Amino acid sequence: MEGLQDKTVVVTGGASGIGLGIARVFVGFASRVVIADRDGGAAVKAAAGLASRGMCRGVACDVTDRASVDRAIGEVEAEIGPVDVLVNNAGVSSAVPFVELSDSEWARVVAVNLTGVFLASQRVLPPMLERGRGRIVNISSMAGKEGLPQLAHYCATKFGVIGLTQSLALEVASSGVTVNAVCPGVVRTPLWDDPASGILGQMGGERAWDAFVGGIPLGRPQTAEDIGHACAYLASDHGANVTGEALNVSGGQQMH
Ligand SMILES: NC(=O)c1ccc[n+]([C@@H]2O[C@H](COP(=O)([O-])OP(=O)(O)OC[C@H]3O[C@@H](n4cnc5c(N)ncnc54)[C@H](O)[C@@H]3O)[C@@H](O)[C@H]2O)c1
Repeated sequence: MEGLQDKTVVVTGGASGIGLGIARVFVGFASRVVIADRDGGAAVKAAAGLASRGMCRGVACDVTDRASVDRAIGEVEAEIGPVDVLVNNAGVSSAVPFVELSDSEWARVVAVNLTGVFLASQRVLPPMLERGRGRIVNISSMAGKEGLPQLAHYCATKFGVIGLTQSLALEVASSGVTVNAVCPGVVRTPLWDDPASGILGQMGGERAWDAFVGGIPLGRPQTAEDIGHACAYLASDHGANVTGEALNVSGGQQMH
């Protein structure tokens, strides 16, 4: 895809799952990729795993903490160059009946999924506006367009990400910066399977997974690379006239 070579691409939450797939796709297009993850060790390890394919490095970054975001992006700017593409991918979830949802769980999910997008975008945007170019791609979800039981907190953040995306896209449209969202359907990652926090354990295990996958018209769940390719398109020259979009990558499971 044109326009990705030698671009500096930061993927938050890129040490695992979808973010790692996104990083892999951008490395494949010869971008200079930075995996920015709360787990700095995992970020460095994941980047080392991609190093044989191209340029990739890892950096510790907690997207809920403005100082941490500032430190990580500052490091990228000093050592690689200004950020051309930010993929706000870091996200967490849990499945909890609404009446049992604690203040702390609500706050945790909002902090990572929504405040994290705010903080990282606000940090990279001024240099993008100054240079008159840049791309921000936010990972929302199918759950950002339609509510799901036990996921009110998660859905609220993912709807919020689309609202933020549309508002910011309009606000910076005249500057040459585009802001879009990608809405994955289902990708089998630790978000589903993690023994401590995975939502499958809370939703009925494999039966719940089968129910999700059974509803996919194209007949298979998404891969992390499916999501990566959508991000790459939006960040490439081919996506230059697309902004404020929330692109479904759900095998036809969601069509609005
Ligand atoms: N897996 C799916 O089916 C699915 C579907 C729709 C949307 N999504 C979204 O895709 C994104 C990635 O999800 P995933 O399934 O790959 O999850 P995952 O659990 O595999 O990966 C999430 C990554 O984010 C990192 N992270 C968590 N908190 C962070 C923080 N405060 N700062 C920086 N990094 C942090 C974790 O360390 C981890 O590496 C999330 O935004 C999620 O909501 C996932």
